Amino acid sequence: MRLVLVGPPGAGKGTQAEFIAEHFAIPKISTGDIFRSNVSGGTELGRLAKKYMDAGDLVPDEVTNAMVRDRLAQDDAVEGFLLDGFPRNVLQARELDGIMASLDRSLSVVLDLEVDHDEVVRRLSGRRTCKQCGHVWHVEYDPTTRPDVCDKCGGALYHRDDDYPDTVRHRLEVYSAQTSPLVQFYDGRGQLVSIDALGTVEDVTERAIAALAPFAG
Ligand code: AP5
Repeated sequence: MRLVLVGPPGAGKGTQAEFIAEHFAIPKISTGDIFRSNVSGGTELGRLAKKYMDAGDLVPDEVTNAMVRDRLAQDDAVEGFLLDGFPRNVLQARELDGIMASLDRSLSVVLDLEVDHDEVVRRLSGRRTCKQCGHVWHVEYDPTTRPDVCDKCGGALYHRDDDYPDTVRHRLEVYSAQTSPLVQFYDGRGQLVSIDALGTVEDVTERAIAALAPFAG
């Protein structure tokens, strides 16, 4: 399965990506995670990306496209992948078409997680991410046993710099202006499946897996 996840910031893409990728045995490729690991590793790419991420803006297409092109050419992505966070605008979607064509592959499906903006703000203000294993928690909806300590690996949790209210508002504007047109773009091609992403994590996972099952090869 070659799957793209779309949805506003905080829709639960990263949370669902873990379960979906495991269920269909495909690698999860998150552009946000790749950027964040470059930021924490102090690489040139990380230095470049950080100023855009902190402001809630998109990293320039040429940087992001080259990174995704390299990642999709790796062996583990040949038989399938889940892309979380890419494409993020119609130009990136056309770039993905080109990458797929060059690899003689095509996308199976685009899964759209639908959630309203008030819920996004609630989810992002309470999100805590593990520095060590990257697992995502929520102080209210999915709390850890001990505050700020990951139940999975014992790592320290942090609040993402782009999860503070002003930046979240800006990310939602960027989503509406640049990313939401992708919903019409893929719908027009008959590649879009939308699900309601409200409800418990388990309910949403169940809906996602049921919606994707017909596309599993
Ligand atoms: P990225 O990391 O992709 O951020 P995003 O798309 O804004 O999405 P988030 O990670 O914020 O949210 P999510 O949908 O994954 O939600 P989550 O599962 O964590 O991108 C960050 C930045 O990188 C961008 O702003 C940009 O600068 C750059 N970037 C990345 N890709 C790029 C690209 N292609 N081009 C250019 N720039 C790019 O869930 C959120 C919270 O809700 C968690 O606490 C979770 O526990 C909780 N939760 C999840 N599901 C539920 C549920 N059902 N009920 C209750 N709580 C839930």
